[in-house]
Amino acid sequence: MSRIETLSVALGERSYDIVVGPDLISNAAQLIAPLIDHEPAIIITDDNVAGYHLGSLNDSLKSAGITSTVITLPAGEITKGYDGFQGLLTAILDTGPERRSTLIALGGGVIGDITGFAASVVLRGLDFIQIPTTLLAQVDSSVGGKTGINTQHGKNLVGSFYQPRMVLADTGALNTLPRRELLAGYAEVAKYGLLGDKVFFEWLEKNGKALIDGNDTLRQQAVIKSCSAKAEIVGRDEKEAGDRALLNLGHTFGHALEAETGFGEKLLHGEAVAIGMIMAFDLSAQIGLCPIEDATRVRTHLKAIGLPVQPTDISGQRWDSAALLGHMGQDKKVREGKITFILTRGIGDAFITSDIDMSDVEALLDRAIAA
Ligand code: NAD
Ligand code: GLY
Repeated sequence: MSRIETLSVALGERSYDIVVGPDLISNAAQLIAPLIDHEPAIIITDDNVAGYHLGSLNDSLKSAGITSTVITLPAGEITKGYDGFQGLLTAILDTGPERRSTLIALGGGVIGDITGFAASVVLRGLDFIQIPTTLLAQVDSSVGGKTGINTQHGKNLVGSFYQPRMVLADTGALNTLPRRELLAGYAEVAKYGLLGDKVFFEWLEKNGKALIDGNDTLRQQAVIKSCSAKAEIVGRDEKEAGDRALLNLGHTFGHALEAETGFGEKLLHGEAVAIGMIMAFDLSAQIGLCPIEDATRVRTHLKAIGLPVQPTDISGQRWDSAALLGHMGQDKKVREGKITFILTRGIGDAFITSDIDMSDVEALLDRAIAA
């Protein structure tokens, strides 16, 4: 193995490493063997990822003498609901786990979130390891311990904070990821620059295109930078009592757009976040908090990368401001009836506020859906 970097999420006795580099899946056993206390290890994956990466993981475990069993779930957000969760719990229990058993999540954010949630409740808590295979999961969902499922009331409304024992982000796995999924993950990469690191955003303006087009070194650098930003925030605010909410830049608007489009293929989570971040910059500019030039610069970059930048970029969707506002009011982050917004004073300078006049938000939404 070469060019491997290890970061740490500092959470006392629940601290863990994030290992980033190429070929980590085919060398996984070397890294995770010390964490497997009881066999078989239980691998949870989806039916797309299984076809690309399960063989390498199985071979690696086998060559290290570690036995494993595999649970393969249908790919897609639909799996992350009550039915999918119940099916997963049953499948895990069917394997006869013990308290020392380890779950291994091999896949994107859907597999990571549902596996982490299952790990937190089966036998009142099993260990789990994240092997994220999408860019979004490598830079965001696999790190930080947010686990959960969707309900008819909205996204990620049932879940737990439950940290993995290790994260292995194999940047080589991104080579099989469809371009649209790569772009969706890029929105979460850009988020770290936009919320707190202008220099990183400038780096992305220079290197983002090449990263998307396949440059593995740049991809690895972006994953490391993103994970270290997230590890730092999670280390000081694990349960989102404060600063961690900055990681929701673009998400209040984004979740409302996803709810309207049915949380599916029409608008991917990362695409919704891209549009949502632009809306957060536009709202900040509209109420005089942020230079209009910064909002324009964000839109220009995300558009050049190939992401949708406004609701009207989603073909065949009719939008309604009142419906979007309704979804925003159901967000997990509503406190005492007030919606929490992540707004910005400029690129790299986001902040949290609940003190926003909803007529300004309505005006922004009206403009956005007419654009
Ligand atoms: P996903 O898990 O649905 O993966 C996207 C698609 O890519 C799926 O079809 C999957 O089968 C396929 N895929 C995955 N890896 C592949 C690979 N290497 N090659 C080919 N195909 C591959 O979606 P996602 O974007 O990874 O994650 C979205 C989910 O993450 C949402 O449910 C969202 O709520 C959640 N999320 C959670 C957090 C958190 O902090 N826990 C943060 C952000 C997002
Ligand atoms: N994805 C936001 C968080 O982990 O807090």
